[in-house]
Amino acid sequence: VIDISKLYQMTGYITLDDGFANTGGTTSSITYIDGEKGILRYRGYRIEELAERCDFLEVAYLLIYGELPTADQLEEFRDNIRRHTLLHEGMKQLFAGFPPDAHPMAILSSVVGALAIYCKDSLDPLDEAQRQLSIYRLMAKMPTIAAFGYKQSIGQPFVYPQNHLTYCQNFLYMLFAVPSERYRMDPDYVEALNLLLILHADHGQNCSTSAVRMVGSSNVNLFSAISAGICALWGQLHGGANEACINMLEQILADNRNIGKYIDKAKDPNDPFRLMGFGHRIYKNYDPRAKIIKSVADRLIAKKIGTDPLFELAKELEEIALKDPYFVERKLYPNVDFYSGIIYRAMGIPKNMFTVLFALGRLPGWIAHWREMHLTPNKRIHRPRQLYIGYPERPFVPLIKRS
Ligand code: ACO
Repeated sequence: VIDISKLYQMTGYITLDDGFANTGGTTSSITYIDGEKGILRYRGYRIEELAERCDFLEVAYLLIYGELPTADQLEEFRDNIRRHTLLHEGMKQLFAGFPPDAHPMAILSSVVGALAIYCKDSLDPLDEAQRQLSIYRLMAKMPTIAAFGYKQSIGQPFVYPQNHLTYCQNFLYMLFAVPSERYRMDPDYVEALNLLLILHADHGQNCSTSAVRMVGSSNVNLFSAISAGICALWGQLHGGANEACINMLEQILADNRNIGKYIDKAKDPNDPFRLMGFGHRIYKNYDPRAKIIKSVADRLIAKKIGTDPLFELAKELEEIALKDPYFVERKLYPNVDFYSGIIYRAMGIPKNMFTVLFALGRLPGWIAHWREMHLTPNKRIHRPRQLYIGYPERPFVPLIKRS
């Protein structure tokens, strides 16, 4: 039992807020979330409207610079990104050194971190020109890195970017084209990818964005800060839930569709199992992103493959969970990761790339927060406190006397 009064004597008065559930680390003008009502807005615009009417780069511009771009501003932004899509040829050696079974998220974080080696003239976050150049470079190169990582893992040659294509077209092209064959771009998949990237583009002070802010607050370059964000995103409690969710659904399907068994496991306080893609720190109502993704999955699956047993299972699981008092009392609803994997699967994207796609979507949000932080006057390094609960001072024990 911890004697709190002694702790206060040792450390002074400190707010202890497990998981930062109620502690604001910053002010921000980027994203508004009302978790009770299920509302999400980027820079004041409703997510539903942006998802329906915008191109991903338009939303990226909005998040990073604060306003929807004019036609000229958008073209300039696109152009600045297009001219940086290639990687330094030396970087191909990095991919060659990774084993074929390397997880694409590990590759992504490593190679994005390595951009700091190859882009030395854009490392100073306090210099506006360098800051801007690093933003264009990262927006341009991350899809190339993600696609090269995938090609390396399946033993196919890298497919270089085609800059007459749009951002989403280009990514699908680099991912799926094979040099000896003609690649047929499917407009439905381009549209679905565009929408999913927009829906993932920002979400306030989530774990990965907080990681980007935390690391960036030391004035390190953008590439290093984003590499940290990618690592934070990979975990199953955060962006890694999309891959984990499909694994879970496949497991339930293989286990005679025994949904009840897995609901019971999720409710058992002695079982670490949780329903992947369910629950959210902020949403105590239906996640508005999950609502949109579910309806897009409905349309896309019907049009492309008719029916998907995993999607049917997911919908049934949701229906059962939302009637169960355990989930109702705790306000646990499907989150953004519950149905997104269903769409990626339909597009032919392998499971281990799902979280990479989340990272591509979240990139403008991370950048926006990093930039907002650097434009804030008198920014301070992030440095949370702790309540020390270890030993008081004690005498040193020499090696020969230790048992
Ligand atoms: N399945 C079963 N029970 C759950 C789930 C779940 N998916 N999520 C939360 N609970 C339960 C907890 O066991 C806890 O129950 P208790 O009060 O009896 O102890 C209660 O609901 C509150 O859960 P916390 O862990 O305190 O909620 P927190 O806000 O810390 O965590 C999180 C949120 C991490 C998203 C959690 O809901 C979870 O683990 N979900 C599954 C993983 C997932 O889908 N992550 C993606 C989130 S969205 C994103 O990051 C993009």
